[in-house]
Amino acid sequence: MTPIIQLGLGGVGRALARQILAVAPAIRRRYGIDLRYVAVVDSRGAMAGDPALSEGQVRHILAVKEAGGGIDSLAGAIIDRHWIELFPAAMAVVVDVTAASGHAAPLAAAISAGHRVVLANKRPLCEGYDLFAALTERGATRYEATVGAGLPVISTLQSLLDSGDEIVCIEAALSGTLGFLMSELEAGSSFTDAVRTAYRLGYTEPDPRDDLSGADVARKALILARTCGKHLPAEAVIAEPLFPPHLADVSVTEFLQRLGEAEEEVMNRLAAARANGNVLRYITRITPESVEVGLREVAANHPLASLRGPDNLISFTTRRYHDRPLVVRGPGAGVEVTAAGVLGDIIATAREL
Ligand SMILES: NC(=O)c1ccc[n+]([C@@H]2O[C@H](COP(=O)([O-])OP(=O)(O)OC[C@H]3O[C@@H](n4cnc5c(N)ncnc54)[C@H](OP(=O)(O)O)[C@@H]3O)[C@@H](O)[C@H]2O)c1
Repeated sequence: MTPIIQLGLGGVGRALARQILAVAPAIRRRYGIDLRYVAVVDSRGAMAGDPALSEGQVRHILAVKEAGGGIDSLAGAIIDRHWIELFPAAMAVVVDVTAASGHAAPLAAAISAGHRVVLANKRPLCEGYDLFAALTERGATRYEATVGAGLPVISTLQSLLDSGDEIVCIEAALSGTLGFLMSELEAGSSFTDAVRTAYRLGYTEPDPRDDLSGADVARKALILARTCGKHLPAEAVIAEPLFPPHLADVSVTEFLQRLGEAEEEVMNRLAAARANGNVLRYITRITPESVEVGLREVAANHPLASLRGPDNLISFTTRRYHDRPLVVRGPGAGVEVTAAGVLGDIIATAREL
């Protein structure tokens, strides 16, 4: 049996549990691997099996979560212990599909105790560099879904590095929301209208500044840069926000009303890019010397220039892929593709063991 402990039963977590239940028989036949949940955890409690949860128990928990309930409402729920106390003696795969902070140290402790980790949660990889190293050394943590959701970004990068290639430059569009905004601007929309449309359609976080600050992109950039071997502290990657500092602390309603105050800067940058024959993109650029996250002009023949809408695109220029870069492109968000990326990591971990 491969014991799984899953932290998080939100959109990604529930999709993952459904996918695991669906593929478990085929994985058992194909590889002789028996994927079994020993515990699932949400923000309010945990449910553990003895030795594992049955399929019926997992489906019941999913139904309760789907209906908006908490694990603490279930008979037998554990609410007085940290999840690290629920680990079995045998090796388990600990899957973090929360967006919680503060998990890096307990996950590193789990690895020290012989367990393995799979992440969709970026935050554990974005604390101090020592914790990143503790989590990732000897491949103890897989984290494909942290950058580009289900797209093969981390595995492509690791395979380039493992085969002795050298990264000359990684250029990437890693935010579907900011990609949507750039397409709207290109189609003639004002910045204010583009942000309000994205907000109305539910493409932004409840507070659109969470997208416009670039903070989530900066976390992905830090993960990519650290994977490249850069020993960067957490604060080394600073994203360029798409709004002025004086709008950082007003309410969401006021922010949406006062978007005009962010308009001029962005529209001037768009006009300058056009005048230079370039396009404007919100990108991550990683070279051996630097890591940048912000609005940049991109040449009209660059792969990033062809990007439309919310897709992600990651372009690797390396010593071997020099004349034309290796490009990974596709949907970089969505619960099903993200869960599939996590499931791929779980199966790879289980096969390795
Ligand atoms: N959605 C996407 O397209 C996508 C793509 C790539 C990566 N990701 C990453 O995947 C992760 C999950 O995303 P999501 O959309 O599923 O988020 P979500 O719907 O907000 O779900 C988060 C889950 O984590 C649980 N949780 C929060 N704090 C916890 C804690 N301290 N201990 C245990 N559980 C805790 C929540 O519990 P309650 O249910 O009790 O609230 C909830 O079940 C995030 O890190 C996100 O950045 C998402």
